[in-house]
Amino acid sequence: MVLGATAGKALPGPSFRVTQVRGTVLEEEVHGRPERLAPTVRPPPGPRLRSSRGHPQRCCGRTTGRRRTEGRSRTWKSRRKPLGNGYDRHMPLTFTLDPAITPELRDGILDLWTDVTNAGGAVGFVPPVTRDEIRPGLVRQFASMVEERSRLLVGHDEEGRVAATAFLTSNGHPLMTHWIWLYTVMVHPRHQGKGHGRDLLAAAERAARTLDGVEAIRLACRGGLGLERFYASCGYKEVGRVPGAIRVAPGDDRDDVIMLLPLT
Ligand SMILES: CC(C)(COP(=O)(O)OP(=O)(O)OC[C@H]1O[C@@H](n2cnc3c(N)ncnc32)[C@H](O)[C@@H]1OP(=O)(O)O)[C@@H](O)C(=O)NCCC(=O)NCCS
Repeated sequence: MVLGATAGKALPGPSFRVTQVRGTVLEEEVHGRPERLAPTVRPPPGPRLRSSRGHPQRCCGRTTGRRRTEGRSRTWKSRRKPLGNGYDRHMPLTFTLDPAITPELRDGILDLWTDVTNAGGAVGFVPPVTRDEIRPGLVRQFASMVEERSRLLVGHDEEGRVAATAFLTSNGHPLMTHWIWLYTVMVHPRHQGKGHGRDLLAAAERAARTLDGVEAIRLACRGGLGLERFYASCGYKEVGRVPGAIRVAPGDDRDDVIMLLPLT
């Protein structure tokens, strides 16, 4: 039995046009039991991330090039323009919006998130962490995707490994549906400093521009790491800062820096 959007009604999520195997995996991840999803599952009311064409849209990558359409997700290979700074010497990542959630992808994201955190990245945890500590956070993201509140953008390297992610997420406030959050922006440590972070944000921006009624991307980053400079290099502007809002450790409070990218 095939579950998911292609089965007609089984799953509300944009990326879960799933086979039995994928449906089973998701059900285990999201609800902690191995049964397949019931066809009556519906997303709760609230803001959804819909494309301007009225259905989930996949579009990413700041450049065109090789494009692969598999079910509802689309993949673009970024063809980076020469930047004159050495970035173009590196193989670009292949970005996919709304990839099918497979065990390989789940494990790849867990590895990425764990490695990034343990290398000092500011993605919700402090090192040292294990995959098991990260896992509930990823499951929450999957659940949010099922509810159509979140869209996953993933970058794979030339060896097919998960190398970068970002989640485009609506917020629950009915008066704030005209902008989205960007969460969990990360590039694997082995790929950092090669321009992939900028490509990732360009792909996220491209995707956000296809979403119905979305006029800005907002994100929050941890102060003290220079991340404002990274986001500024991608066009974001600092619009707010809550001093000491993030307690990384006792005696180590960091600012919560709010960055905004208007799309209009
Ligand atoms: C932040 C991150 C996504 C940037 O990705 P990246 O691939 O290393 O960045 P790029 O190579 O595309 O760099 C783009 C620009 O930002 C700058 N930059 C990147 N990371 C930076 C940092 N931490 N501090 C200051 N500047 C930074 C680069 O120097 C470059 O500027 P330049 O072109 O003027 O030299 C990546 O380093 C990462 O995953 N960090 C750990 C996770 C994390 O903290 N994420 C932020 C969550 S809010």
